[in-house]
Amino acid sequence: MRLLPVVVTGLLTLAFAYYVYIPLPDAIQEPWKLMMMDAGFRATMHLASLKAWLGFDHYITSIRQSMDGFDGMVKRSESGAGVMPGVKVSDVTFAGVPVRVYEPPAGGEGHLRRGLMYLHGGGWALGSAKKGSHDAINRMLSDELNTVVVSVEYRLYPEVHFPVPYLDCLAAAKHFLSPEVLARYAVDPERVAVAGDSAGGNLAAAVSQEISTDDTMSVKFSVQALIYPVLQALDFNTPSYLQNQYVPILYRTLMVRFWLQYLGADLNLESQFIANNHSSLHHSKITPELRARLDWTVLLSPKHKKSYKPVIVEKGSEGVLKAVPGLLDVRAAPLLAGPEVLAKCPRAYILTCENDVLRDDGLMYARRLQDAGVTVTSEHYEDGFHGCLSFIAWPFEFDVGKRAVRGYFDWLKNNL
Ligand SMILES: *[C@@H]1O[C@H](CO)[C@@H](O)[C@H](O)[C@H]1NC(C)=O
Repeated sequence: MRLLPVVVTGLLTLAFAYYVYIPLPDAIQEPWKLMMMDAGFRATMHLASLKAWLGFDHYITSIRQSMDGFDGMVKRSESGAGVMPGVKVSDVTFAGVPVRVYEPPAGGEGHLRRGLMYLHGGGWALGSAKKGSHDAINRMLSDELNTVVVSVEYRLYPEVHFPVPYLDCLAAAKHFLSPEVLARYAVDPERVAVAGDSAGGNLAAAVSQEISTDDTMSVKFSVQALIYPVLQALDFNTPSYLQNQYVPILYRTLMVRFWLQYLGADLNLESQFIANNHSSLHHSKITPELRARLDWTVLLSPKHKKSYKPVIVEKGSEGVLKAVPGLLDVRAAPLLAGPEVLAKCPRAYILTCENDVLRDDGLMYARRLQDAGVTVTSEHYEDGFHGCLSFIAWPFEFDVGKRAVRGYFDWLKNNL
């Protein structure tokens, strides 16, 4: 009779270990912490799918609720990330778009501050300017760099899809860059940045391109900071997509799902996209010129190409470009912009992580901006993983996240 509890405990332990354990690249520091966190995210996703299947909430709604729960566990003390008593925080609207503004203490008459517009990540479906690490980092940035930060609460999937999030960010950016608004916040028009992480990096790059080429704008962004940005949806078989397809927390299937949702596409196209069938050679709209803009065999260094081979499909799926026009829209995929557009873009900081499916999106954009004559700082974290900048406070605290935040701040200090 004594044996039963032992056997049950043993089996439960095995099941738990089986759920939590995933093989990780050797470069990842603190692997068990990442595994536990990833298991938490996977459990959240599974639960959300189950609830959606049972007819409760949209699965995104359930994930948002769980993320708020996780955020409630995070310790944000005076000594840690987040609380900056000197920074004034206000929730207002810019051109009708909700934004959260962080203002450092005024520096006296005639003293101008830096400005920064921030676009948060979360696959165009999750996250908020007002919550979690995005809020904490923007408070710290405002305080430490004497910067007026405007963090945009753009609308998300499933409520909207492309181009609405982009248009929200663009409208807020144009409003912020107007001379009257800059003056009201005592921001130096020569020192305004646009920044974002992940899907927010995508929006930051796209908005930056549009503003740079808009002759009606008298003030433009002076720098752009892109943190592991998403920049293209035509090749889901870049070396980094292949190398990191099972690396937490952004699995390749999840990134493809985020794209399908953002572009308002049929979610059943997932396997076609993963096979690169949506960008097969028979699509004449994807010209050789366009393909060259994301040709990683040319744009990546041998160190990152390794021995991976391009996945180029002859025939693939018909009609997909008509059904999902966003695939070829530079406002959704800024890596597709031509060199004449890139040449006008501001100086750039591009942060990439080795253990991230999006590594090559960022590396290729860095290279193409450089080729177009733009000064680029390409900062690469060998032990970084997607989302690491969000994990800087206990219990979701990673050394690489803290180093990466420091690197981003330092670059802004010296370049903005
Ligand atoms: C991709 O397209 C080919 C036709 O070129 C087809 O045979 C294959 O089944 C498709 N793959 C997927 C995953 O749909």
